Amino acid sequence: MPNRSVYVGLISGTSMDGIDAVAVDFSSPQPHLLATHVEAYPASLKASLRTLCLPGNNEIDRMGQLDREVGTIFSAACLNLLAKAGINPEAINAIGSHGQTIRHRPYLDHPFTLQIGDPNTIAELTGLTTVADLRRRDMAAGGQGAPLVPALHQALFQHRENRRIVLNLGGIANITCLPADTREAVTGYDTGPASTLLDRWIEQHQGMTCDDQGEWARSGKVIDELLNELLADPYFRLPPPKSTGSEHFSLDWLGERLAKHQLAAVDVQATLLELSAASIARAIIREGYAASEILVCGGGVHNRYLLERLSVHLPEARLASTAEYGVDPDWVEAITFAWLAKRTLEGLSGNLAAVTGARHEVVLGGIYPAPSRTR
Ligand SMILES: Nc1ncnc2c1ncn2[C@@H]1O[C@H](COP(=O)(O)OP(=O)(O)O)[C@@H](O)[C@H]1O
Ligand SMILES: [Mg+2]
Repeated sequence: MPNRSVYVGLISGTSMDGIDAVAVDFSSPQPHLLATHVEAYPASLKASLRTLCLPGNNEIDRMGQLDREVGTIFSAACLNLLAKAGINPEAINAIGSHGQTIRHRPYLDHPFTLQIGDPNTIAELTGLTTVADLRRRDMAAGGQGAPLVPALHQALFQHRENRRIVLNLGGIANITCLPADTREAVTGYDTGPASTLLDRWIEQHQGMTCDDQGEWARSGKVIDELLNELLADPYFRLPPPKSTGSEHFSLDWLGERLAKHQLAAVDVQATLLELSAASIARAIIREGYAASEILVCGGGVHNRYLLERLSVHLPEARLASTAEYGVDPDWVEAITFAWLAKRTLEGLSGNLAAVTGARHEVVLGGIYPAPSRTR
């Protein structure tokens, strides 16, 4: 008999650093993390997904197969999560699966966003009801389909006396602005890159998947001319609501801007880290939160040098990991997708219209029922 308050959340973000899987009990106001697991993507799958993220030949065939393959590995992520923690799958009410974004195009005449990881496959292989396709309804309602984390940030972190920013440092960075006055709208958007360019650049030049604690960037020197060119990208000036992805802030994007420079790779890394810090800080200042509490989550919380640079740009702010507020920063996003599944099954909205720009708040996603089971 499923426990109606226990959900699994599954997501692989733009970094493709692995599938984050959580089992969460929502029976009390503060979600209780029962189990966590990271399921790595095999290198060949990661490479195929990377290729699919950029336009190329024969995309439909490649996407169709990868949709099934990602669905299969998401199922394994869920089953391994539960096995590791000794949780009987029957105790789970449902899975909320974000899938893997392969394209996010909010600025076309017919904007779209595409996450793969076939939820039919997940429901079939796990035996669990699966809620997925959580972004496209918001887009159909006129929104960006992103970011979706702010609704959970609000539920967990809004404070009646202190205005707060929740800063999610993934491949892309997004902010949630939480006013102290709960009658005011919560806003938020993607500010631009957090780790995506740092990851790609260090991979290309040092063969590493990530710049551990930002130490390589720390050892370089910021090239102001390049930094200013990067900060001149129109995305940074675009008014919210807005969202972006690694298809925009890509190595191709960087390459176009590097063409006329002859720079040491390490100095480019230093400049890219400064780009992330400066663009995030500008957004926070623009929203009037320069002197607020800033709660940091996402993998970038482990990039010590990025946090140091953020503190330099925001000297009046109080920056701290969400761990200090009771929620492990590595799992906030996966918890969000577990929570969104719960919202959907309860017939409650999951988007914040003031964040995504949707015409209204709406129940998100599609429900893929579990195979019928004996109760
Ligand atoms: N020790 C670390 N030092 C620096 N960066 C880190 C570290 N650990 C994780 N990261 C960064 O965190 C990112 C992954 O964070 P995550 O929240 O999972 O993002 P996404 O949602 O895009 O997958 C990676 O891009 C990686 O660069
Ligand atoms: Mg990730």
